[in-house]
Amino acid sequence: MRLIAANWKMNKTVAETEDYLTKFLKILGTPEDREVLICPPFTALYVAGRILKDTPIKIGAQNCHYEEKGAFTGEISIPMIKEVGCSYVIVGHSERRHIFGESDEVINRKLVACLERGVRPILCVGERIEDREAGMTFKVVETQIRLALSGIEGLTDLLDVAYEPVWAIGTGVPAKPEDAVTVHRFIKDLLKEINPKSEGRTRVLYGGSVNPENAPEFMKHKEVDGLLVGGASLDPEAFAKIVNSF
Ligand code: 13P
Repeated sequence: MRLIAANWKMNKTVAETEDYLTKFLKILGTPEDREVLICPPFTALYVAGRILKDTPIKIGAQNCHYEEKGAFTGEISIPMIKEVGCSYVIVGHSERRHIFGESDEVINRKLVACLERGVRPILCVGERIEDREAGMTFKVVETQIRLALSGIEGLTDLLDVAYEPVWAIGTGVPAKPEDAVTVHRFIKDLLKEINPKSEGRTRVLYGGSVNPENAPEFMKHKEVDGLLVGGASLDPEAFAKIVNSF
């Protein structure tokens, strides 16, 4: 099933989350032929989990730590996010990589922990503008994926990948759908090479300035298995439109 995911980033209080989800459920109904995922900030996960409990809409965290518990001030573990209802977690988002200095090694440890503890990670990859201009897009994406999957090559069916070109995130300038499709195809071929026994369950999502107007342009391509939406997902009406864009 194709996956449309909202990454709220550092937005929305508990009260705003309640308000959003009440509206969103009314507008959206209960779609059964597509998976809908919302990733609120940690503080709103509990209330989101309660509101969405008996609906098909899933919740995910935007980050996690790889250890189960211990002296890691400010971190949140996988058992903690699972307890409040998360079945997904975003791992290696470009803001984590570039603002908080998250390394490929840390991202790999997080993925390993997610697979061990039974939460489905969405691994984010994507090139910066200077990589693209230097013709390095494929190399950068390949390196990120190979390092992230180190030691868990046989388990690719248990995760999804989001291709989010850094220059398209929050800029209002999305990738051209044809260009995104080329990278998606590359990622799918690479995943097949890394795990020849895979059942092809890894979805490749596109993210970066998706809105209700351009969403159908991405979703009409079979290589695009879904979307990871930032800014436009903060408005329940806009996000519902995106969910229903195909
Ligand atoms: P925008 O949709 O705001 O460009 O953000 C994309 C993103 O980073 C989703 O993870």
